[in-house]
Amino acid sequence: MKILGIEHIGIAVNSLDKDAPFWKHILKISHSGKEVIEDQGVTTDIYDTGKGKVELLESMGADTPIGKFLENRGAGIHHVCFEVDNISEAIKELKESNIQVLSDESTGGAEGYKVVFIHPKSTGGVLVELAEKP
Ligand code: CO
Repeated sequence: MKILGIEHIGIAVNSLDKDAPFWKHILKISHSGKEVIEDQGVTTDIYDTGKGKVELLESMGADTPIGKFLENRGAGIHHVCFEVDNISEAIKELKESNIQVLSDESTGGAEGYKVVFIHPKSTGGVLVELAEKP
């Protein structure tokens, strides 16, 4: 697998209405898109610096991964995402190295990326997402 760079930092927020204006109007980072990812129960709101994005994550309910994260840990950095050249190959390599990948195949993430998550136990405490550009 080849890591091509940091794609984005995922930040769990309590409210996009309340928390997005800082990124949009104070830091003035270019807005790249807002999207509902139904199967993860999350609304993503993405800002692109041109050298890595900020992905704000708003939960669609308490019983979702972000809802649970907010309840347990509060708002803040949720994951770091690295772009890879080939996600299927990356998953295969990780599993061969006994790294705990959260799904056997990539799923559809924001902006049409194919994504997979690696358990924090395997990474030193940080939820890591890998993403292949569409
Ligand atoms: Co992400």
